[in-house]
Amino acid sequence: MALVHEIDFGTPRSPSETMVTLTIDGRSVSVPEGTSIMRAAMEIGTAIPKLCATDMVDAFGSCRLCLVEIDGRSGTPASCTTPVADGLVVKTQTERLKQIRKGVMELYISDHPLDCLTCSANGDCELQDMAGAVGLRDVRYGYSGDKHPNPGLDESNPYFTYDASKCIVCSRCVRACEEVQGTFALTIAGRGFGSVVSPGMQESFLGSECVSCGACVQACPTATLNEKSVIEIGTPERSVVTTCAYCGVGCTFKAEMRGEEVVRMVPYKDGKANRGHSCVKGRFAWGYTNHKERILKPMIRARITDPWREVSWDEAFSHAAAELKRIQAKYGRDSIGGITSSRCTNEETFLVQKLIRAGFGNNNVDTCARVCHSPTGYGLSTAFGTSAGTQDFDSVEHTDVVMIIGANPTDGHPVFASRLKKRLRAGAKLIVVDPRRIDLVRSAHVEAAQHLPLKPGTNVAVLTALAHVIVTEGLANEAFVRERCDWSEYEHWASFVAQPNNSPEATAAMTGVDPQALREAARLYATGGNGAIYYGLGVTEHSQGSTTVMAIANLAMVTGNLGRQGVGVNPLRGQNNVQGACDMGSFPHELPGYRHISTDAVRDSFEALWGVTLNSEPGLRIPNMLDAAVDGSFKALYVQGEDILQSDPNTKHVAAGLEAMECVIVHDLFLNETANYAHIFLPGSTFLEKNGTFTNAERRIQRVRKVMTPKNGLEDWEVTLRLAEAIGCSMSYDHPSQIMDEIATLTPTFTGVSYARLDELGSIQWPCNANAPEGTPVMHIDHFVRGKGKFVITEYVATDERTGPRFPLLLTTGRILSQYNVGAQTRRTANTVWHDEDRLEIHPHDAEQRGVRDGDWVRLASRAGETTLRALITDRVAPGVVYTTFHHPDTQANVVTTEYSDWATNCPEYKVTAVQVSPSNGPSEWQRAYEEQATAARRIASSAEAAE
Ligand code: SF4
Ligand code: SF4
Ligand code: SF4
Ligand code: FES
Repeated sequence: MALVHEIDFGTPRSPSETMVTLTIDGRSVSVPEGTSIMRAAMEIGTAIPKLCATDMVDAFGSCRLCLVEIDGRSGTPASCTTPVADGLVVKTQTERLKQIRKGVMELYISDHPLDCLTCSANGDCELQDMAGAVGLRDVRYGYSGDKHPNPGLDESNPYFTYDASKCIVCSRCVRACEEVQGTFALTIAGRGFGSVVSPGMQESFLGSECVSCGACVQACPTATLNEKSVIEIGTPERSVVTTCAYCGVGCTFKAEMRGEEVVRMVPYKDGKANRGHSCVKGRFAWGYTNHKERILKPMIRARITDPWREVSWDEAFSHAAAELKRIQAKYGRDSIGGITSSRCTNEETFLVQKLIRAGFGNNNVDTCARVCHSPTGYGLSTAFGTSAGTQDFDSVEHTDVVMIIGANPTDGHPVFASRLKKRLRAGAKLIVVDPRRIDLVRSAHVEAAQHLPLKPGTNVAVLTALAHVIVTEGLANEAFVRERCDWSEYEHWASFVAQPNNSPEATAAMTGVDPQALREAARLYATGGNGAIYYGLGVTEHSQGSTTVMAIANLAMVTGNLGRQGVGVNPLRGQNNVQGACDMGSFPHELPGYRHISTDAVRDSFEALWGVTLNSEPGLRIPNMLDAAVDGSFKALYVQGEDILQSDPNTKHVAAGLEAMECVIVHDLFLNETANYAHIFLPGSTFLEKNGTFTNAERRIQRVRKVMTPKNGLEDWEVTLRLAEAIGCSMSYDHPSQIMDEIATLTPTFTGVSYARLDELGSIQWPCNANAPEGTPVMHIDHFVRGKGKFVITEYVATDERTGPRFPLLLTTGRILSQYNVGAQTRRTANTVWHDEDRLEIHPHDAEQRGVRDGDWVRLASRAGETTLRALITDRVAPGVVYTTFHHPDTQANVVTTEYSDWATNCPEYKVTAVQVSPSNGPSEWQRAYEEQATAARRIASSAEAAE
């Protein structure tokens, strides 16, 4: 296998649909108007020498290497900055051009260190390539003259180095940071020969605003910016295209390898979700695969207080099967169940639900999507008929007004955020509905037109007030509603939202939102052109999560913002495969494809293929399993790739449920917090070690390709298969492609999906079937999947979680860029340099009232529990609101979250907890005990490693 080579066309693709024809070196070429001559030449395989141009950023025209001659024009224009025109006759190779290019290269090389043989980019350096391409054989000026300034080697970033001595000041890095990433962390300081690339105000990379996305490293044509892994391992020898295993953006990467070692992850330009960009997690935070704490052998123990005993895979499977059978024989068929993971592939998830339905004989299967986006499934299927977002990410390029609700894309969905910021810099308007002043409210060259800093828990009231303004000010798109929606339901809804008690003024005291700002936001969304709504867990993780999703759908329908590019309702999915886990039948009441288990015809098709009789009754959800465990009727659980002790609300209750079970099987990479209560541990494989597919937030199914042998010996789908076989549930697959074939056979929205088709098209957005053989980028174009769009009354019902004298503040939670979810992977990488602990954000006023200074330890207490962490004083949060992340198990923010949940789906209300904050002397008793336990585990891991 060789390196996957992607052509660099020198300048970006022109979006024009008008074609222009010209002649280059005697050959005719037709390209879209606005294309550069350099790109047009590359389209016919003519690579004009270049240094400052690359197709990830706009042309700059500084190096003067790419000159061409054009008949009838004087001089030698730069081909990267000269657009094509009809009838142009261009020459790229003449004696004059050769001499000029050699002269330019001589100047560059005379200023460059001559250490090519030992340089980390040797063989992978564009400067070296260009010296060869222009035929440079001699440097007339020698090498001893003045050199450009060299501020020294900057190794502060954990993943890449900056060696200014090798810089040719092409500014590709500066432009990548601005245009691709949108962070504006780099500048060219100084002038002329004294120019030098500078992070921030001449700071180190780590000390600057740099978010370590790596776009500058990718853009750099020399070894000036280079991955430390390349310096350490050497240049890669083969590459495999695969998909990131972190967030729901679903970036595609080339995993560049040397032997079995990953050298670097390079974002794939053909990746339709990321278009060649990435964030710090996908590009750099893959080192957890080799982390010493990874468990590679199966382990069992009789009691959770016993030490673990390593066993063979055979013994682990036969022991697990015996336990599951024993428990079912003693306590009944419904006494066991399982949990699928949004981090695992579609195929793995499909197998787990099949194991439970066909092997356990019940429907006690649920997924971690229960605790994040289950209200999205309920709300969007009620309104539109499909449990998924309506658009592709490219759609944002056609948007005029973007409303972000309860999401923080620069931290949670960074590559989408970069694409969004690019559109905002080009003139689109932004409305942010969030209790916190997230980065998008104001950052480099981006400013929200409106920020509605609502009180946590009042989403429904704010969205209904927005609808009130649209309806009462005559801004509704009645033509769209009459054509596409149920008119009588609309009229009923319109009279509800028009009630005076739903006005911005009437709800202001409750929501905390300035009525005038809310009116302006409603007008902007309704009249500003294409309006798109993107939302996150700040919408779903509430007691009215499903109602909020339906309120969002109402807003999109009443303004006609559905069914074309640039509009829509877009849930930003948290984990990489939340969409896929839901699609694959992970919920207790639904078979794959969101079909109710009680529907005879659907069950019949599965029964015929699987050769079993399926139970028609929906099974238990995660909270019900835990309640049943505490009550004594639920006794065994198989958990794949999910740490429910850390990620589910009310940690004490989760622990009590797990402790009450007789057999907990944890299948994961590391001994997570849930594994403290496990009797059987089955080691998992990382995304680098297996084949499969993930489905991102756009419904885009993408291949995950194995780039190395699983360190534990088995891919995860094989583990589930072997467990199924051990309990007598027959499954025979040799490769995950056969599992996908079965999914396609059984699921109407997946009929046209296969590995061969995915390889051919790169990715497919479902539905993909006879009606849409290449998939569906935008849904509901002519009509909604359910027929007529459904307006649902969204009465605001305040959460039962109320502030009062004991707990006067509202806690809300979220993520930070460098960490992911409960941190199991990212905490085991150098990403901890940016975030090594969870902090409590508190407004200066609230901090002062409590005598809390920045960095002080504080006690965070709610009705459910308490924890301690250090304070971060900031006005990003409003008075009365505190905020923290939940990435570190020694903080366990979910110790304080309550059991309140969404009325329709049981999604926990993570985003609203009444709390008190008070000064503390340091970690609480349970935290100190946890730290001692973790230190002991680390010591054991280190001594095991030393012994090896
Ligand atoms: S790593 Fe990303 S954010 Fe940092 S300087 Fe480079 S392009 Fe900018
Ligand atoms: S660091 Fe690399 S990309 Fe940036 S100006 Fe120098 S050579 Fe060009
Ligand atoms: S974490 Fe998300 S945004 Fe970052 S590289 Fe992975 S998929 Fe892309
Ligand atoms: S590549 Fe065109 S001027 Fe540098």
